[in-house]
Amino acid sequence: MAFKHFINPVATAKKIMSHCIKEGNIVLDCTVGNGNDTLLLARLVGQTGKVYGFDIQSIAIQITEEKLIKEGLDKRVILINDSHENIDQYISEKLHLIIYNLGYLPGGDKRIKTSAVTTINSIRKALTLLDRNGLLLVTCYRGHEGGEEESKAVREMLQSLNQREYNVLEFNFLNHINKPPILYGIEKL
Ligand SMILES: C[S@@+](CC[C@H](N)C(=O)[O-])C[C@H]1O[C@@H](n2cnc3c(N)ncnc32)[C@H](O)[C@@H]1O
Repeated sequence: MAFKHFINPVATAKKIMSHCIKEGNIVLDCTVGNGNDTLLLARLVGQTGKVYGFDIQSIAIQITEEKLIKEGLDKRVILINDSHENIDQYISEKLHLIIYNLGYLPGGDKRIKTSAVTTINSIRKALTLLDRNGLLLVTCYRGHEGGEEESKAVREMLQSLNQREYNVLEFNFLNHINKPPILYGIEKL
């Protein structure tokens, strides 16, 4: 799909990350996968920053670690082979930006994917770790089994957040068929 002015939610998430992350920031990737976002985050935080990355699949951690080493970015990234439901067991410092790219590992086992309950539990914890003026980005995919349900659960939870504490935006192509991905952006006030 070619866009004249508007870009798709996945590209929008990358633009927001590139715009908002500064050298020295501490950020978290809750779904490392093939490491594309983790690598971008590692570049953006620079030498003095830090990236935490979680994935339940050891293959995702392995693929990403190899890419980071190849690019000389591995020293600034802490990869954790555990569910993002447990982020609070590993992280106690405040974070400038947190991202979720939900669903399954592209090119991997499609049965291993994020799910509504664990995603919601994790986002609640992530919001408490987020620094003031920090951003949380969630890209939801609706085309696979369970994706629509997960996306609705994420929307419902985000919609209930107190507007005195958070601003929540939805980036969604309303007229596109075939269930395009939706990006949610949450800003902590
Ligand atoms: C769409 S992929 C992420 C793609 C990644 N952002 C990239 O740039 O390549 C989703 C990933 O979430 C992981 N995942 C699923 N459930 C998870 C959980 N509870 N905790 C952490 N990662 C999970 C999957 O293993 C998969 O690798």
